[in-house]
Amino acid sequence: MAFLRPTPLALALFALASPAGAEDLRIGLITPPPHQWTRSASHLAGELNTATDGRLSLAVFPSGQLGNEAQMLQQLQSGALDLAFLTVGELSNRDENFGILTAPYLVDTATQAATLLEGPTATGLQDNLAALGLHGLGYGMAGMRIALLSKPLKEGGTVAGRKIRTVPLAQQLDFWTRAGAAPTPLPLPDLFDAYANGQIDGMQLDFEGTFDNRFHDYSAVVLDTEHMIFPMVAVASARKWQSYSAEDRALITRLVAAETAQIRAAYPQIDADYRAKLIEAGANVVKPGPEIFGDAVTGWYEAWREKTPLLIQLETEAKVIRE
Ligand code: BEZ
Repeated sequence: MAFLRPTPLALALFALASPAGAEDLRIGLITPPPHQWTRSASHLAGELNTATDGRLSLAVFPSGQLGNEAQMLQQLQSGALDLAFLTVGELSNRDENFGILTAPYLVDTATQAATLLEGPTATGLQDNLAALGLHGLGYGMAGMRIALLSKPLKEGGTVAGRKIRTVPLAQQLDFWTRAGAAPTPLPLPDLFDAYANGQIDGMQLDFEGTFDNRFHDYSAVVLDTEHMIFPMVAVASARKWQSYSAEDRALITRLVAAETAQIRAAYPQIDADYRAKLIEAGANVVKPGPEIFGDAVTGWYEAWREKTPLLIQLETEAKVIRE
């Protein structure tokens, strides 16, 4: 599948060759081409093409080619963009309830994370997308969150005092502030430069992103905390959604659901594989407990249960899954 913006000439030639009623859809993501989300978007494009004999095509725009998530959200709202795989970063800035999915130590494993994202609270939360001009098509996820530090950690040390990259959402900024760190919100495409030039001295990411960007080469320690889920929300523009036929809506719903299910199922193994690759590459991977964050976890829950009571329902569900 092509990742490039088509030229006007290419579009004109394609239109001539397209079957009657053909429609060219677009999907935007911030992840780079090798990332699982982008590979799944490309697979979706192939499936859509095959299922409609080329009547519906889907051009994939990875690496923030269409802009950051705030800009993609505007394009979805105006109907300039059909589909996106979004993190909960920008969504949480519009509706804080989405941030509950990033609660610390909600579940222990990526398998449990997938189950929680299939549960009634997360699924029900998708109804809130309508108020943002979006139509929810299900959850994917990335690997469990870990943390990297560029400078060594003393025995019994914590993350306090480090300048840590987080995704730009209130719950995350609050968590790292409570841990005594200086949270620095940065989107994924800006991470490499910021770490390499010392603008940040640590980051919250996952095993896959760490290895693919060789961030371990700049890190004294890779903290295998797995302290948080990182959901992906597959969305359609509500405006564009209305314009598709009922059959096409059903088809897109089914195909996107298959991709997100595959992504959720794949991440436990992706995490394990990339962890092993990091160790093989000589990264200093250590496994601390929640005390690495001081007493941030307790204070965080007290504050966010009050601000977003839906968190309590999600915690109840997570507790059953952990047992
Ligand atoms: C991140 O911003 O950390 C991120 C975004 C998308 C996929 C994985 C990680």
